[in-house]
Amino acid sequence: QTPVTTATAKAVPALPDAQTVTEVKHYTDRLFSFRVTRPASLRFRSGEFVMIGLMGDPHPETGKQKPLLRAYSIASPSWDEELEFYSIKVQDGPLTSKLQHIQPGDELILKPKPVGTLVHDALLPGKRIWFFATGTGFAPFASLLREPQTYEDYDEIIITHTCREVGELTYGRDLIESLKHDELLNEVIGEGFWKKIKYYPTTTREESPKMGRITDLMKSGEAFADLGVPPLNPESDRAMICGNLAFNLELKEMFEGYGLEEGANSKPAHYVVEKAFLD
Ligand code: A2P
Repeated sequence: QTPVTTATAKAVPALPDAQTVTEVKHYTDRLFSFRVTRPASLRFRSGEFVMIGLMGDPHPETGKQKPLLRAYSIASPSWDEELEFYSIKVQDGPLTSKLQHIQPGDELILKPKPVGTLVHDALLPGKRIWFFATGTGFAPFASLLREPQTYEDYDEIIITHTCREVGELTYGRDLIESLKHDELLNEVIGEGFWKKIKYYPTTTREESPKMGRITDLMKSGEAFADLGVPPLNPESDRAMICGNLAFNLELKEMFEGYGLEEGANSKPAHYVVEKAFLD
């Protein structure tokens, strides 16, 4: 087979549902983020995910290539012109071993069918909203933290992020810092809107100002004391969870203990859960 040159590939989109990469940022040897063009027809609610990916290797006998797709939370808000994603790099992962090498100008596949449970519609009105993330589970909250409705609907927003190492907190910390200069939010919500946010980053395997799993810090009461708020209760608190499976299950069990009920698009309640999708 004649290898296709990059210039030809770009001139004639070879991929179905192709979008073009506009920016790539690497944070650690395990984490990176990227931005791509947004299909004109794509509407989504902040917090939802789409399937994205690349063409897989040609089949050894037939030479046929199949798309290799994974669910990725959209990290940009619903009003943004581009789409942002935050990803892990798994060296032997079928998709992310390739995806980690993308460059601006490259194309990837994006199925424009957004879905997901981490949406405001799935929660009843409340006073305070909690976003609980581990690792790349921060992504949907990067979208929701840039969504005006988050500040219109709640008096207080608490975002907790537990990672193994300090460098893994950078994407989230930079995002929260950038909100102070977010023109749209400052205009729509009012200057100083970001003072409604309480950010609670913790690490488990590298020294940082706050060490430990958020679940343990809540069980001991330390997290609530640090944040100056009472434990979650069904009257005032709403929550969204996005992390690894064990984390999601542990928090769900804790929430049931606080008397919170799981909500869905069709039946809004007190909290919702989504997995951080791994390769
Ligand atoms: P730990 O280092 O104690 O396992 P991972 O990269 O494996 O997905 O983990 C991301 C972060 O989530 C790590 O800091 C990890 O802590 C933490 N974590 C893993 N499982 C749980 C759990 N059941 N409850 C709270 N935090 C968890």
